[in-house]
Amino acid sequence: MTVPLAAAALLAGSLLGVPASASASGPTIAKEAFGALPDGTKIERYTLGSGHGMKARILTYGGTVQSLDVPDRRGRSGNIALGFGTLDGYLSDAFTTENPYFGALIGRYGNRIGGARFALDGKTYKLPANDGDNSLHGGAKGFDKRVWKAHPVKDKDGVSLSLTYVSPDGEEGYPGTLRTTVTYTVTRGNDLRIRYQATTDKPTVVNLTNHTYFNLAGEGSGDTYDHKIQINASRYTPVDSTLIPTGELASVHGTPLDFTRPHTIGERIRDGHQQMVYGRGYDHNFVLDGTGMKLAARVTAPATGRVMEVRTDQPGLQFYSGNFLTGRLVGTGGTMYRQGDGFCLETQHFPDSPNKPQFPSTTLRPGQTYDSTSVYSFSTS
Ligand code: BGC
Repeated sequence: MTVPLAAAALLAGSLLGVPASASASGPTIAKEAFGALPDGTKIERYTLGSGHGMKARILTYGGTVQSLDVPDRRGRSGNIALGFGTLDGYLSDAFTTENPYFGALIGRYGNRIGGARFALDGKTYKLPANDGDNSLHGGAKGFDKRVWKAHPVKDKDGVSLSLTYVSPDGEEGYPGTLRTTVTYTVTRGNDLRIRYQATTDKPTVVNLTNHTYFNLAGEGSGDTYDHKIQINASRYTPVDSTLIPTGELASVHGTPLDFTRPHTIGERIRDGHQQMVYGRGYDHNFVLDGTGMKLAARVTAPATGRVMEVRTDQPGLQFYSGNFLTGRLVGTGGTMYRQGDGFCLETQHFPDSPNKPQFPSTTLRPGQTYDSTSVYSFSTS
């Protein structure tokens, strides 16, 4: 059964303690049904509105950003996130085979762990290999395929949706019960803020991120190669042919990975540099300059004037130019997604950190709280 949006808004408004009339002009949050899993589990979709032309639609399935409407330079809002209009799209064989993780929360470990194993405190943990011999994005059934419990939260800057998931000890090979909360906030200023928090009852490793594919010209409008991107990183982590870091931190200088000044995504995407060949384009972790909360990247789309800035407290940013999209998937607007039709900027710790003692640590111990925030800010130029 679909809950009518207006009624859902009223319900959510009352949950938030906000009178329904106030939510019409300011930030809004509404809930509706979004189908059910084969076992009958109901999935919901929450729509968080900024009151200034931005709307994020988030599913309890995978904590997925299903769509993201932001205004263009003429003030017209349009969807800039790749995804599907129905739950079936996310459950289809085509999607789970191609596994692009559209919009999903990624855990317990974003990106790859080499050889699908790691050692912690002298004990070796084996993970299911789901990317050649490696483990990718948390394994066969990662956080992207879990159902999250949702709570709308009143927030002074906007509206938030707090999602929780308790990952049992040993799930997908990882030690410790991991209690995870991810809070999406849409602010009045058109920011999408994502706060990741987790605790464990045994030593473990954690690296959480979000896998939204952006196309600032509009979802389904073709490739993103004319977008200009600047990344605040003078180094990156080179990879081997299976996309596992070699352990080195290399300078971007003189390579197609130098985005310290803006370049279009397409300008050097066919460069024969070995790293580009390994990634089939950009699929690299950039070592962000600076510490604490900092500007990681800025992207502009000439056709629409949309600008996205990414800020994070994480040390790394995976810039993935959608190289493995094959044209098999048909998205929300009814067009198929081909290579390059969206790009990801995944804030993270470096891939394979559990096997690279020289990288910043991803170990989480009982008594500690994993707490990290990334912000995607939208404006126009
Ligand atoms: C990885 C890619 C992978 C993609 C979709 C990205 O985060 O870096 O190698 O193909 O996710 O799974």
